[in-house]
Amino acid sequence: MKRTVCLCLSLVLFLAACGGTTGPNATRTESRTVSTPPAGITPLRDLAQKRAIFIGAAVDYDALQNEPQYAYVLGSEFNILTPENMMKFDATEPEPNVFNFVPADAIVKFAQQHHMRVRGHTLVWYNALPTWITNGTFSRDQLIAILKQHIMTEVSHYRSSVNIWDVVNEAVADDGTLRQSIWERVIGPNYIDMAFSWAHEANPQAHLFYNDYAGEGLGTKSDAIYNLVKGMRQRGVPIYGVGLQMHVSTQYYPSTQDVITNMQRLAALGLKVQITEMDVKTQDDPNPPAQRLQDEAQIYHAEMSACLAVTACEAFVMWGFTDAHSWIPIFTNHADAPLPFDTNYQPKPAFFALEQALKEQ
Ligand code: XIL
Repeated sequence: MKRTVCLCLSLVLFLAACGGTTGPNATRTESRTVSTPPAGITPLRDLAQKRAIFIGAAVDYDALQNEPQYAYVLGSEFNILTPENMMKFDATEPEPNVFNFVPADAIVKFAQQHHMRVRGHTLVWYNALPTWITNGTFSRDQLIAILKQHIMTEVSHYRSSVNIWDVVNEAVADDGTLRQSIWERVIGPNYIDMAFSWAHEANPQAHLFYNDYAGEGLGTKSDAIYNLVKGMRQRGVPIYGVGLQMHVSTQYYPSTQDVITNMQRLAALGLKVQITEMDVKTQDDPNPPAQRLQDEAQIYHAEMSACLAVTACEAFVMWGFTDAHSWIPIFTNHADAPLPFDTNYQPKPAFFALEQALKEQ
């Protein structure tokens, strides 16, 4: 019963916040009686702002379009967002030189209406490529021209609205070598430097990131990412920061101290860092469900604390915010609960752990 009331009132607030269609007389009483956001007393975004970081989530376009509660929680709790799939190559250039920015534009508009930053994700990845790229046979020069045009067009389209870009995503393999991909095979390793220069040319103000997973703490892959970006800095490539994805699980996650040490060595290169895609898999946790949620909460606390401990850490972004919309159950083909809100948009222990970490000085 309580939840139903909460959902309805949230809907009213959402419509009002969007300059919605509730009409002059509609539901005025309800919207006046609700003065708090859906989860904590103070929205996470306000707590984060006091600590000089951004807090955010990846956005599922369909959920944003279809679920008022999704949009309401997103807009009230977070001040930065990442389109989960709609800025990727297959979504934005489905046919050669045919660009589609309609879904991504809608997400950017939502961000603007709610005073949120946008992380553009992602310009160059081995995945999410349209078939005309994966099935094509291109010479090196042709592929360079294609990639340049793709990057210049997308970054230019968002020149006034997106100033953070994951330029290159997941270019390092798990063993620390350069990942094999069409870009690496046809263009060669310097596709990475090229991509950053073109993004910079299209928007010199943009903050350009290299983004990857499993390099958050210390180890072979983290060393490889460190060496990659160190080389880029030495060559004068316009890289601004490193995105640490932070797809972790209750069974495996980097310690606060290792993440701090890694962030600090990146900062010593003159780079910023952001946690860009955090979620916590719980499906392999042998503990009962309630304990799993506590384990998950403790990991959110640990990684948020790492970000707060390092001045160069600018943002803490999760790969979604509600268990109703997470890529993990699809990707692993197994039920899971990796995010700080449950499937009914109610805050979980992980939410309160983030809140607590943000309040701790
Ligand atoms: C994932 C999306 O969440 C899925 O919906 C999609 O099917 C595949 O891509 N690292 C990244 C993200 O950088 O772009 C990925 O997003 C998750 C892993």
